Amino acid sequence: MNVLNDAFAKPIDATADAPDPRRVGVNRAHESAHLHVAGAAPYIDDIPEVAGTLHAALGLSPLAHGRLLGIDLDLLRAQPGVVAVYTAADLAGLNDCGPIVHDEPILAEGTLRYVGQPVFAVIAQTRDLARRAADLAKKAIRAEPLPAVMTAREAHALQQYVVPPMKLARGDAPAALAAAPHRLNGSFSLGGQEQFYLEGQISYAIPQEDGGLLVHCSTQHPSEMQHLVAHALGLSSHQVQVQCRRMGGGFGGKESQSAPFACIAALAAQRLGRPVKLRPDRDDDMLITGRRHGFEFDYEVGFDDAGHVLGVTIDMIANAGHSADLSPPVMTRALCHFDNAYWLPNVAMRGYCARTNTQSNTAFRGFGGPQGALAVEWILDGIARQLGLDALAVRQANFYGVTDRNVTPYEQVVEDNVIHPLVEQLAREADYAGRRAEIDAFNASSPVLKKGLALTPVKFGISFNVAHFNQAGALVHVYADGSILVNHGGTEMGQGLNTKVAMVVAHELGVGFERVRVTATDTQKVANTSATAASTGSDLNGKAAQDAVRQIRARLAAFIARRWQVSADAVVFGNDVVSAGEHRIGFAELATQAYFGSVQLWSDGFYATPGLHWNRETLKGKPFFYFAYGAAVSEVLIDTLTGEWKLLRADALHDVGASLNPAVDIGQVEGAFVQGMGWLTTEELWWHPKTGKLMTHAPSTYKIPTANDVPEAFHVKLFENRNSADTIHRSKAVGEPPLLLPFSVFLAIRDAVSAAGGHRTQPPLRAPATSEAILDAVMAVQGAATA
Ligand code: MTE
Ligand code: MOS
Repeated sequence: MNVLNDAFAKPIDATADAPDPRRVGVNRAHESAHLHVAGAAPYIDDIPEVAGTLHAALGLSPLAHGRLLGIDLDLLRAQPGVVAVYTAADLAGLNDCGPIVHDEPILAEGTLRYVGQPVFAVIAQTRDLARRAADLAKKAIRAEPLPAVMTAREAHALQQYVVPPMKLARGDAPAALAAAPHRLNGSFSLGGQEQFYLEGQISYAIPQEDGGLLVHCSTQHPSEMQHLVAHALGLSSHQVQVQCRRMGGGFGGKESQSAPFACIAALAAQRLGRPVKLRPDRDDDMLITGRRHGFEFDYEVGFDDAGHVLGVTIDMIANAGHSADLSPPVMTRALCHFDNAYWLPNVAMRGYCARTNTQSNTAFRGFGGPQGALAVEWILDGIARQLGLDALAVRQANFYGVTDRNVTPYEQVVEDNVIHPLVEQLAREADYAGRRAEIDAFNASSPVLKKGLALTPVKFGISFNVAHFNQAGALVHVYADGSILVNHGGTEMGQGLNTKVAMVVAHELGVGFERVRVTATDTQKVANTSATAASTGSDLNGKAAQDAVRQIRARLAAFIARRWQVSADAVVFGNDVVSAGEHRIGFAELATQAYFGSVQLWSDGFYATPGLHWNRETLKGKPFFYFAYGAAVSEVLIDTLTGEWKLLRADALHDVGASLNPAVDIGQVEGAFVQGMGWLTTEELWWHPKTGKLMTHAPSTYKIPTANDVPEAFHVKLFENRNSADTIHRSKAVGEPPLLLPFSVFLAIRDAVSAAGGHRTQPPLRAPATSEAILDAVMAVQGAATA
């Protein structure tokens, strides 16, 4: 009996015989909420250790760039408790964990590429002893320094990229620009972001019989971990089992970058024949792994008197770090989101993934989409200021049409546009116009404190840009006692995927949610899965589980229909009862009888998103099944003497189609909003210019938002909608799109800074808009105003 869920759920009509449509679509607490709050939800470090478990720690490169000359293994082996030390030479298979381009060594070989790169692994009796020995890296590693390239701009100047530059264009942007009545050009600098999952990276590898390995890994991508471990150790996939019950957050950081931890724990377990756990501490985690790409933009735009964009050119330069990792698809998504919600008739974009001597940047909620879309919002904000028009009016003037002006630069037709009514509703409910006037009046009489307001829209494409990733599998067991066990290829990281999939299964059988249990994601249950990423978890795995359970339901219906001598179509599943006319049987009783009747009570299921295609050379096609929409309006107050700021109020209206679980979806929108706000305001990454070391590698110096940063007035609402695409119960993905909502916070800050200069100059505000950045921008606009 789950008290939380009962309190949350809308009452179900117990008298109805029809399948209750509210089994999906009701508010329901996360399937593990009662465990989360009691500290009883086990994460990998909570798994009881097998006797004989050893612990690994990584020795990290002290140089941003260098030639690796040797490692003093004797020094390391002589440390107390040390059982073994491994280097690249110990890998029987490939020393590579690059997910796309094979350019990423698991342990450094030949060159050192960034401060924090794993160079060797120490295996010791305890975690402390392993870390103490690994801490001697500086002494043990012999290397000759080479010149390092630390920023994307420097690498771009050297034409140093991890993959060739990309291009996406439509129409004739230079000609449209040249002919436009108005022009604006500039640059914009946007920082990266640490995922800051609360559970750090961790892998625990346990040898199995006959050369097999079980790896417990906190990962969004168990199948890829399975393949990489197999490649690194020279094993076949069927010898490697990867399991993940839940993550304490992933946010993209455990899509590819759980790999070195899985591979190294597995290597040591294989070589020593003993269980080995690898759990880096937070500082090492931040020094080793990459994060959201920082971007630099150079743009030029031509527009008319009403602010319509006529032509725009943009160069996007991302800091990819030392290897490709997921940078190519991240850049692709950035290019495919520069349009955001806007019709850009003539556009020419170029994307550069700059190779630098830093951590390799990777997936983070939005996967490049936020970076690309913020660039166009920045540009439209500038257009409005230059023309002296309201920024919302300029945005609305540029929105995609519903039946015309609705083709994206990558040639997908936008068929489900709801941005017009959505933004109108938000502007009305949040009184955008009234507050705009109030804020202008406030600013006119307040010389030091300034207020700012911004309303920004979101349009986000759902699906992986690589068509074949859009597939999923599931395995559903109905036991003879009527209880149900579900496995699917997705992973649970707090987003509520298991809750949604269980709801889908319960819905099909018309049974109570408590009957359904979802257990760990396991490569031995569902094979060849995709990463739980691109927000597609419930779209893909929900459909796969539905496919599985529908097969079981059909068998049950056929079985009982024969007994009742009715047509199988007449059999109805609802409220834990199966019925046809006057015939009724409890669901559990039916399961028992079907078992005795030799009916197969388990099934697999499969789903692949239909109709997607993508040309990787031209960057054209239909990469997305549909779009998710949203908008937010934020009001801020800044202090022009100190750069301090406060979010006074935020209102968000977000489209999740027909929600599978509004409580979970609202939680996702709120969380994404605050996380995105952190990215654009307080979270600043800083690499030491001399040593190249990331200095903000702990929460003491890297400031993520806390509960205190949530505005007192925070109104999050779901937009009434149904997905026009045939998704699971017409819902829409929710994981990433709302991360773009807090663009409104950043642009409200820019609006407040602009007020400090009488809205006469374009504030050169960089992101994150830390207090220092705000103060710099205030001084710039005030300087320009008095000059
Ligand atoms: N929510 C929580 N609580 N924790 C997470 O790690 N990751 C986000 C989002 N929401 C995340 C989260 C990211 S990056 C993605 S892609 C989606 O969840 C993945 O899950 P889904 O596809 O099931 O929505
Ligand atoms: Mo999310 S960045 O696609 O893991």
